[in-house]
Amino acid sequence: MFERHHGNERVILACIDTGETGYRDSVDELRLLAQSAGLEIVDLIEGRRARPDPALFAGSGKVEEITALVRAHNAGIVIFNHALSPAQERNLEMALQCRVIDRTTLILDIFASRAKSAEGILQVELAQLAHISTRLIRGWSHLERQKGGIGLRGPGETQLETDRRLIGKRVKLLKDRLHKLQRQRTVQRRARTRKQIMSISLVGYTNAGKSTLFNHLTHAQSFVADQLFATLDTTTRQLFLPEAGEIVLSDTVGFITRLPHTLVDSFHATLEETIQADLLLHVVDAAGPMRDKHISEVNRVLKEIGAAEIPQILIMNKIDLCSIHPGIERDEYGKISSIRLSARTGAGVPALRAALGISRLAYRQPVAAVARPTIINNEYHPELD
Ligand code: GTP
Repeated sequence: MFERHHGNERVILACIDTGETGYRDSVDELRLLAQSAGLEIVDLIEGRRARPDPALFAGSGKVEEITALVRAHNAGIVIFNHALSPAQERNLEMALQCRVIDRTTLILDIFASRAKSAEGILQVELAQLAHISTRLIRGWSHLERQKGGIGLRGPGETQLETDRRLIGKRVKLLKDRLHKLQRQRTVQRRARTRKQIMSISLVGYTNAGKSTLFNHLTHAQSFVADQLFATLDTTTRQLFLPEAGEIVLSDTVGFITRLPHTLVDSFHATLEETIQADLLLHVVDAAGPMRDKHISEVNRVLKEIGAAEIPQILIMNKIDLCSIHPGIERDEYGKISSIRLSARTGAGVPALRAALGISRLAYRQPVAAVARPTIINNEYHPELD
């Protein structure tokens, strides 16, 4: 696994365009991810290939170019903007004579260094173990023989089997702990439901400004930073707004395109808070060049986790960066569909607070009456709807 780095690591980004859509955005995102991890990007190399090379991902000519760059910049790590197979990673490390990591490992590392709550830490470790287990063969393949460790291994077990068994044990332990924490959360949620407190979740693409808005509304200090995934866990606060009364507000993990699958699974539970909300505030960086793409990506993920039916208000944030006036947009039925504001300056926030008051009237009903799929253990049960 990619050990925690403490900044100042010189890295080269390698991006191969295989013709998939969104390539350019993914390059920009990789740059942001590397910066968020505290790495120093010394160069970016791009290439084109119809299909990845099975052994090296890039072509041999491109690998030679990267090798020259690694030497010229004295770089310690090359990050590929793709999911590399364990064999490709190993072959590239041999060819380039430096560490090679892929996008998944980089994202996992950022998650690992940012997770704060007990639940978040457990989920990240689970995701890391899932990633490691696909890569176990690497490095150990040559040790695929019995090494006779006393008390460690069962008879006839290879090093690889031992590692798999230890990882399996750890995974089980983590899952049990996670399960307990999730049960606690469910109990807390039920208590809130009984009290009929409207629960609102802030969702949105990473860096959209969710935590800034959360802080503005709660005066709490959750971690705000110009980094991807500054918030990894769901932070929940119960607060009283004069306009809307008692509400429960949750700040959730930021969405990102091409999130590694190991992470999607692990973070399902984090997003469960989102599924349970009565209202979603979908925060968007209105000044961002990828605004519309991010909106549809977030909506796609919301659909995936069964949250598509929950009423949503689009929050066009960061209007101080573009010349947009604060204000409210309504749909053809007169329902508030979007609010333009700046979480940083506070312009437009009073309109949001008023909108929450109106929403409260609309959503103040037994939670069971709100259309939402029945999800048990992260599985959809249509028969219970
Ligand atoms: P993740 O935790 O990655 O999901 O990010 P987030 O959506 O919680 O974003 P966060 O609140 O951490 O804000 C990201 C960056 O945008 C920070 O540098 C904020 O200061 C900045 N920001 C947030 N809202 C505004 C705004 O209204 N105007 C301006 N100019 N910057 C803002």
